Amino acid sequence: MTTPDYAEKIPNNVSLHEDRRLQRALESWQPDFLSWWRDMGPTLPTQDVYLRTAIDVRGEGWAQFGHVPMSEYRWGIFLAERDPGRRIAFGQHKGEPAWQKVPGEYRAELQRLIVIQGDTEPASVEQQRNLGATAPSLYDLRNLFQVNVEEGRHLWAMVYLLHAYFGREGREEAADLLRRNSGSADSPRILGAFNEETPDWLSFFMFTYFTDRDGKYQLGTLKESAFDPLSRTCEFMLKEEAHHMMVGTTGVDRVVERTAQVMAENDTDDVAARGAIPLSVIQKYLNFHYSVSLDLFGGETSTNVANYYTAGLKGRWMEERRKDDHLLTSDSIMVDALVDGQLGQAEVLALTGLNTDLRRAYIADCEGGVKRWNRILESAGLPQRLALPHPAFNRRVGAFAAIEVSPAGQVLQAAEWEQNKGTWLPTDTDKAFVRSLMRPVLERGKIAAWLAPPRGAPKGGGINGQPFDYDYVHLA
Ligand SMILES: [Fe+2]
Ligand SMILES: [Fe+2]
Repeated sequence: MTTPDYAEKIPNNVSLHEDRRLQRALESWQPDFLSWWRDMGPTLPTQDVYLRTAIDVRGEGWAQFGHVPMSEYRWGIFLAERDPGRRIAFGQHKGEPAWQKVPGEYRAELQRLIVIQGDTEPASVEQQRNLGATAPSLYDLRNLFQVNVEEGRHLWAMVYLLHAYFGREGREEAADLLRRNSGSADSPRILGAFNEETPDWLSFFMFTYFTDRDGKYQLGTLKESAFDPLSRTCEFMLKEEAHHMMVGTTGVDRVVERTAQVMAENDTDDVAARGAIPLSVIQKYLNFHYSVSLDLFGGETSTNVANYYTAGLKGRWMEERRKDDHLLTSDSIMVDALVDGQLGQAEVLALTGLNTDLRRAYIADCEGGVKRWNRILESAGLPQRLALPHPAFNRRVGAFAAIEVSPAGQVLQAAEWEQNKGTWLPTDTDKAFVRSLMRPVLERGKIAAWLAPPRGAPKGGGINGQPFDYDYVHLA
């Protein structure tokens, strides 16, 4: 393992200085990245932000905290340490040493996988760029910016792989990652959920809970890759991703907590007049973000994904903990399917059903969030509960894309769907209401009325042991 080189123009632990060509190529991409950040990154002007910067991948010392002007954030290239004995854990190359170079026969597929992952990273920065102007507290503002700079770093991680291992085509793809933009009519981001807007903080918390969590599962499968640099990159990204999960999980916690508090105090569901977000609106946002995130896992069956697995490019979630042959050539799995127009199941080869396998792990994880939020309602003495909608609800990808289904899992006629969808998905009125609550609270230690402070505030509850009322952001 090389010691991290933090004095370089591009901080890294991949001995960039030993490869002048690669270093020059990345140094010429760097100004394009910075101008993308200026044009498409956070819009709220700040002097500096209390940020965590990755400076190494080892031990506890990998994260350094301090007030940093965002434009001077040191985006770097950090891969988890190399295990020289690492062997491929699955597929037809199982047991062989992990690849340090890209095998010619898998070049196109690996490049595609990296580009798709890479495209999501800057996309979320673009989606979230205007949120700073309506931050509910300095603490939340800081967390938003932390997520943003780290998504920027994740873009660097993918661009490093493209530049280092995929030659001219890789460099072109790296340039295109800055050319596509979220929601653009001409050159949108690759995946649907990354072209949706994140116009308010409830959406942001739902996004970091549900959509960033999809990212966690995708990174988990790439971490298993036989292509060792990809595996090591994703392993370190997952470490950073944990903070994004925390922002989403506790963000929704705090919205629910505040709503529950106002409901219990006033003995009413109608908390809107009191400046909190009604539970029914929270449920609609949850329905939306969960269903579009389920789409990100692709169709129930996929021969591409089967081939990726067999080739060793992309594994399963927790591949090494699975107690099977890691080849799956003779196994089968039941997947969701449309049977005579009704919700049903079909048996398919385990290999072709890998998207289903991953989506199920994700769904189980999401159930954990709902349980948490329901415990908050329960401790407030309220009978209401939140729920995940049926996996067939509001889907645009996969077996249920062609039908409409209620959150409870009832197949609907088009007219019934049209009539009821406003009770299940955020309406323009709901969105306008949520937006009306989004007034910035940027005074130290203060917080918006629709959101509870983090646990432990005001003395604790902050980042890196700081109190909630710390000066996390100095505005310009
Ligand atoms: Fe990311
Ligand atoms: Fe993330």
